[in-house]
Amino acid sequence: MRLLFVGDVVGSLGRETLGTYLPKLKKKYRPQVTIVNGENAAAGRGITEKIYKEILQDGADVVTLGNHAWDNRDIFEFIQDAKKMVRPVNFPKDTTPGQGIVYVKVNTIELAVINLQARTFMTPIDDPFDVIDKLVEEASQRTSHIFIDFHGEVTSEKQAMGWFLDGRISAIVGTHTHVQTNDARILPQGTAYLSDVGMTGPYDGILGMERTAVIEKFRTALPHRFEVVASGRSILSYCVIDIDDKTGKAKKIEASTISADSPFRE
Ligand SMILES: [Fe+2]
Repeated sequence: MRLLFVGDVVGSLGRETLGTYLPKLKKKYRPQVTIVNGENAAAGRGITEKIYKEILQDGADVVTLGNHAWDNRDIFEFIQDAKKMVRPVNFPKDTTPGQGIVYVKVNTIELAVINLQARTFMTPIDDPFDVIDKLVEEASQRTSHIFIDFHGEVTSEKQAMGWFLDGRISAIVGTHTHVQTNDARILPQGTAYLSDVGMTGPYDGILGMERTAVIEKFRTALPHRFEVVASGRSILSYCVIDIDDKTGKAKKIEASTISADSPFRE
């Protein structure tokens, strides 16, 4: 089974870039399952129903979220019906709308897609290690193919999670920092790992935001309103993972970007 995962789509430029390149990437890599992180897709904060459907139409099978999941109020109107969307599974179980895991069927194999959120330098949330420990055990009863989008700020927590789950899941890739890390690897027990996939959207902003306000915030320590860069050059960040159909273990992971500095090649 081959998976294609596209990192955090930011704003309209991110959506436009996804629309342009996702079909090309699918043609190039022929993945069976395509997963897109859409937590910043609506003007950098959250997602709307229209955008969710647009991302599916572009070619995604599942949309993952993160800490910005709730920023656009529209989410509360459609999340219960959004069967191909996952929000972090370690929000309080009984009170949080939506789901943290979905199963995608590929011929006779099922892939579990999970969204999980880290805690370091992030909003307090249920212990991701504890929650995923139980959930992976549960999901393993049903399938050996398990993919996790681990949404978090720090590489140490992401590595800890990777090693914690090595051999029990097919792949774990990080999102949220918007910067692709150069550490894609297969851990010894067969779990594909990448600290962060990176973002899809403005290439000349700061994590997708207009630079001036961000620089001023650092220089003055005063609050500044951040706006997503609306036009200009863009980047698309992704990774491709090959999973052994029989064992559910990863065989290969490759991370890459498309930008003016690394143009798309057929
Ligand atoms: Fe995030």
